[in-house]
Amino acid sequence: MRRYWSESGKRILVRKNIQAKEEAVKPFLEVLAGRNSPVVPFWFMRQAGRYLPEYRDLRARKGGFLELVMDPDAACEVTMQPVRRFGMSAAILFSDILVVPLAMGQTLGFAAGEGPVLDPIRLESDFAKLDYARFSKALDPVYRTLKNVRGALQDEGFGDTALIGFSGSPWTVAAYMIEGKGSKDFASAKRMLRENPALFEKIMRDVTDATVDYLLRQIEAGAEAVQLFDSWAGLLDTEEFEKWVMEPTKKITDKIHVKHPDMKIIGFPRGAGPHYAPYAKKTGIDGLGLDQAVSVEEARDLQKILPVQGNLDPQILLAGGEKLDATIDHILENLSHGPFIFNLGHGIDKNTPVAHVEQMVRRIREFPS
Ligand code: CP3
Repeated sequence: MRRYWSESGKRILVRKNIQAKEEAVKPFLEVLAGRNSPVVPFWFMRQAGRYLPEYRDLRARKGGFLELVMDPDAACEVTMQPVRRFGMSAAILFSDILVVPLAMGQTLGFAAGEGPVLDPIRLESDFAKLDYARFSKALDPVYRTLKNVRGALQDEGFGDTALIGFSGSPWTVAAYMIEGKGSKDFASAKRMLRENPALFEKIMRDVTDATVDYLLRQIEAGAEAVQLFDSWAGLLDTEEFEKWVMEPTKKITDKIHVKHPDMKIIGFPRGAGPHYAPYAKKTGIDGLGLDQAVSVEEARDLQKILPVQGNLDPQILLAGGEKLDATIDHILENLSHGPFIFNLGHGIDKNTPVAHVEQMVRRIREFPS
């Protein structure tokens, strides 16, 4: 069974396998287009992943994370898993931002429990080894996953669920490529930015071009919106933020909008603080992803510029209880009267009980519109 909402906001139950029409209204896309939606659309960053037992099972059977990502049937299955449980307004492609350096020829591994490890790029000669020409073809499995998911959403009766494609933003992807792993401060990447700007610029240029190419191919394969994850935008000072976050983002949105004027692009410059407003005004994005450090008052101001998405603290979700309900209500009371997509301020923590996600979804659905 799936829950739908009637015009009056009352919850109604509709049989899951009801014939869904291709032209079904998708609340997630309505909000991004600036139109009213009778329901608050919701999805959660990292909605597919280790907090779900069915994900852990499939990953164990396939042997690892990248094995899942590069198998279009398995990746489609993982993308659908949270949608089947919770009926989110959007499915997000199951992949990773680091498949871009992987496709460029950089060695990438995900050691269990340790996060990503890449052969770091520190010298011109490290970068020269990468082969940008093989990039697009290497990601064919990802495009096939998107096609599969569009089919699965239709076939399984989720006709009002939109499909989101994504990539990392150039700064965040370049930061991992240079650092070779996750880090609190990405000190090596920042050092290169200051001490070898020529090499840093070259990396940024190739990654930006690759990102455009990658997102265009995702759109052709069926993505109905795309999100740019700039997880480490908050590490940059004002001048660097303009040059390495805002300028590449503008370049990417311009190129996508030339080919697909109505395509919705969500920018998520995590930790951008005071830079959120100029980013929203100047980068050509259509929706703004907010992290949990943004207050509801600030979010309301940003909502005057663009539809906003966010921003429940994943740690509050992890803890559950009354505080979870109260925080969800606080966000909805303040933001649901304007263009708003409910999400977290960052990805779901892998230790989150499924029951807490159920509680959150119930609370969002039952919030009076
Ligand atoms: O949101 C989704 O459900 C879609 C899939 C998705 C993944 N990664 C799957 C994943 C998305 C959108 C991402 C984006 C991503 N990947 C970002 C940007 C968002 C953010 O979290 O800041 C970044 C920085 C990465 C790089 C990355 N991938 C890291 C740092 C890690 C390790 C951290 C962790 O959570 O283990 C990954 C691995 C990863 N990506 C997992 C998943 C489900 C865990 C893999 C596993 O062990 O099963």
